[in-house]
Amino acid sequence: MQSTNAAELLAQIRVHGAVPRHVAIIMDGNGRWARERRMPRPFGHRSGMRAVREVVEGAVEVGLEVLSLFAFSQENWQRPTTEIDALMSLLQEYIARESDELHARGVRVRALGALDRLTPAAAAAVNRVVTRTAANTRLTFNLFISYSGRAELVRAARLLAEDAAAGRVDPAAIDESTFAARLYTDGCPDPDLLIRTSGEQRVSNFLLWQMAYSELFLSPVLWPDFTRGDLYAAIRDYQLRERRFGRVSA
Ligand code: FPP
Repeated sequence: MQSTNAAELLAQIRVHGAVPRHVAIIMDGNGRWARERRMPRPFGHRSGMRAVREVVEGAVEVGLEVLSLFAFSQENWQRPTTEIDALMSLLQEYIARESDELHARGVRVRALGALDRLTPAAAAAVNRVVTRTAANTRLTFNLFISYSGRAELVRAARLLAEDAAAGRVDPAAIDESTFAARLYTDGCPDPDLLIRTSGEQRVSNFLLWQMAYSELFLSPVLWPDFTRGDLYAAIRDYQLRERRFGRVSA
């Protein structure tokens, strides 16, 4: 069910017409949300799953081409083992619960990051949903897991160096597109809009290359409370902005 606010915002978005192709979200504030309720941090992550469902449904409804969610960073491996275990189980639970629905809605799930670090059970679950939904075309849902922007850039540089050393690439011919083709996001448009929740004002090693010209929207809402209405409010705000990409106004 949509709140009136969400329905009104959706109507305004449709009147305006231009919807961002790609929205990326740094989901932050699960720990604080749990602490406010005197509950352990994994309780906040579990509650954050509902918000994931909300934004995926909202993204399909509003007609995004790509939705990217930062679910787990490479730095997150340094959290206590109990929290990492809880996050890995939640990932599996999310996939087990949502796979049918995602597939039925035409969502193509992709997993981007250093997936070799996942537990075998989590990796198997991720592979299953990625394979099952690979041919869907309504929305591409990028789940960034075990991801770090700097590691992605270093990986791309390494792949390019290997190609150059093997004679497959001429170093003099390397340009932005040659480089971007070695990123996990190859073939995906850059995010038009980057949302971070919980009032924090950092980029936190997310999509460092890809967000060169992304519009930023910082929401005070803690992730478990984030609704599709909040997503629509961010998109509505985006629609009122002027993007110049370093140029002057028309
Ligand atoms: C940041 O909040 C959030 C995370 C590190 C994990 C995000 C995971 C989920 C939303 C749940 C599961 C998602 C999927 C796709 C299954 P934080 O813990 O850093 O919060 P804090 O800054 O308040 O401590």
